[in-house]
Amino acid sequence: MDHFEYRDGVLHAEDIPLPQIAEEIGTPVYVYSRATLERHAQVFADALKDIPKKHIAFAIKCNPNLGVLRVLARQGYGADVVSGGELERALAAGMAAEDIVFSGVGKTRAELALGLDRGIGQFNIEHEPEGVALSEIAVGKETTARAVLRVNPDVDAGTHAKISTGKAENKFGVGIDAAPAIFDRLSALPGLKMRGVALHIGSQLTSLDPLEAAFARVGRLVAELRAAGHSITHVDLGGGLGVPYRPEDNPPTPAEYGAMVARVTKDWDVTLMFEPGRVIAGNTGVLLTEVLWVKPGAVSPFVIVDAAMNDLARPALYDAYHDFVAVRPTGEKMTASIVGPVCETGDTFARDRVIDKVAAGDLAAFRTAGAYGATMASTYNSRSLVPEVLVDGDRYVTVADRIAAGTIMAAERVPDWID
Ligand code: LLP
Repeated sequence: MDHFEYRDGVLHAEDIPLPQIAEEIGTPVYVYSRATLERHAQVFADALKDIPKKHIAFAIKCNPNLGVLRVLARQGYGADVVSGGELERALAAGMAAEDIVFSGVGKTRAELALGLDRGIGQFNIEHEPEGVALSEIAVGKETTARAVLRVNPDVDAGTHAKISTGKAENKFGVGIDAAPAIFDRLSALPGLKMRGVALHIGSQLTSLDPLEAAFARVGRLVAELRAAGHSITHVDLGGGLGVPYRPEDNPPTPAEYGAMVARVTKDWDVTLMFEPGRVIAGNTGVLLTEVLWVKPGAVSPFVIVDAAMNDLARPALYDAYHDFVAVRPTGEKMTASIVGPVCETGDTFARDRVIDKVAAGDLAAFRTAGAYGATMASTYNSRSLVPEVLVDGDRYVTVADRIAAGTIMAAERVPDWID
């Protein structure tokens, strides 16, 4: 459920007609709905009602906009961060340091030190040398880092290869068989409080089965670690729940996920940690765009829009599907390929798809663009960096400015030794 609806034939974000935003801010522009964001955050939290001890950390990589983060902070969400930049964003948005979890396969020593200086709640250690480094830095600062060891359960998440993270051949975590010995050694280090384990097997998961298989493996590992004398108080189950991109998609609901987690983990007696991203933010945003031209093609016409792969990279990167709808649909349909202005064929949002009939000058929206949309934008082809707007009922604010191509160019220089 979301709050992007047609009223009098015009697509609205809550009470704001999208043409008003196009007129005032220009296109392309991401538009988020606060009510939708809050609803998803609430639905996910409600789905975990049977879990006695829990902590929810929004995976801010999927939408790190400060306005968005502030909404989630007010809902009681913490943050899962993967860089110093994300860490500072979470704090700037009002998230408490102790509610921040630091994940990521390549944290630098400077980032580990930053996490300690800011007093974050937990480091998710990806391999032994990182744990050793964290221990050394913590000792140097006369502090203790709370940490868990990320394990790789070797489970096929059944998602796109580029966003699958829990197979043995992926770069993430330590092999689950090697985990007990590594955990032993890290636990003996000063400055490090090893308190549990973490996993994350992939994103846009459309079945609970791989998650359940991975959680069961981690449950056995927890028992093994306890048998070896370790105190295990936290298990971080990661994120990964998929969202419907196509009308016919039917991924597991948060309630089904929560029930499965409660069942599988009922005897664990730990604080369970969650890192949802897409399931919270995906449906809360659209990318609003204007049709520039409709050009005849050999197979079907090209609808050339003013958004491009630099604004929404998912179709080019993962062949991802984003629904495309007219802001003022006439009821007529056409078969077309939807493309952006960037000079490569990869800049294609859809091939030969049946869509609302549109003409040059019409507005249209890519749906389900609130997660991994603006955050992955670039300025390729010297295009501006796409702006973001947050709607709240009948008001809205530009929560990220359009950064003009000229501003980007102003940060460059020609060496004076090139004449
Ligand atoms: N925790 C960790 C350690 C992660 O690496 C991720 C996502 C998440 C949580 C959140 O996963 P989610 O709940 O959003 O599935 N750019 C790709 C997705 C990359 C996901 C990376 N890791 C896309 O556009 O599909």
